[in-house]
Amino acid sequence: MGIRFGHISDMHLEGDVASDSLVKLKAAGGDPLGNTRLALEELAVEQPDFLIMTGDLVHEGTAEDYAALRALLDEILPGVPVIGSLGNHDVRDAYRKGFLGMEDGDDSPYVDALEVCGWRILSIDSAWEKLLMGGVNDEQLDWLAQQLEQPVEKGNILICHHPFCPALEHAGMAMPEKLEKILRGGKISAIFNGHLHKICAGWAAGVPHFTGQSLAFDIEVLGSTAIYTTRGGYNMCQVDRDGHFFVDSRIVSPKGNIYQTKPTKPI
Ligand SMILES: [Fe+2]
Ligand SMILES: [Fe+2]
Repeated sequence: MGIRFGHISDMHLEGDVASDSLVKLKAAGGDPLGNTRLALEELAVEQPDFLIMTGDLVHEGTAEDYAALRALLDEILPGVPVIGSLGNHDVRDAYRKGFLGMEDGDDSPYVDALEVCGWRILSIDSAWEKLLMGGVNDEQLDWLAQQLEQPVEKGNILICHHPFCPALEHAGMAMPEKLEKILRGGKISAIFNGHLHKICAGWAAGVPHFTGQSLAFDIEVLGSTAIYTTRGGYNMCQVDRDGHFFVDSRIVSPKGNIYQTKPTKPI
């Protein structure tokens, strides 16, 4: 018996409404909240076994903004287990208070684990230093290694915001040696992340590595130019009974208006 789960990422829900990039996005017709609602409504029809969120959930927001995201999930996907990782535009203290309901939020790196349907999803914090390219520290990797020592029926899935597949070196974080050793230990079945606002698939130290699209805006690369559009989407994922992963792209706002371009390195 396989499992099905949703992968949403980079919703950039309104926290800092005066942010230059969000102002441009909205002026071009972008609708991060509308896209997120549409994605969750589609997922409600599919009734996934769980949902993963890979960061940049709210754009520089407050506890109230994260509480609004929690309320949206409770309204549209009640009872569906969810686990998040945080991105370079998230605020850890606000997430802990608003999304997790902790009285005393704090700003330490956010790690988390969720067991569902025989799988363990492990979340590490590649954005703890708020660096654009990301990075994880030794304490998180020690925590990850300890988690992997615990038996689990089906396997482990790792989530974090920044990609670290070697082919994406110029766009994501450099893989620490310690993380590479953990991955080569064979206990992690797949890795899911965000940050690039586009779908990429590859391998990281022998583990399948999937980068999800964004529900806020899409970034496509044409030659050495990154093209930002208002298109939003998410991924529907499956693991079949042989343990093979399958990722399907779902678009919720297919007509993308271009609202900015930037020079970039092609992937
Ligand atoms: Fe993002
Ligand atoms: Fe990001």
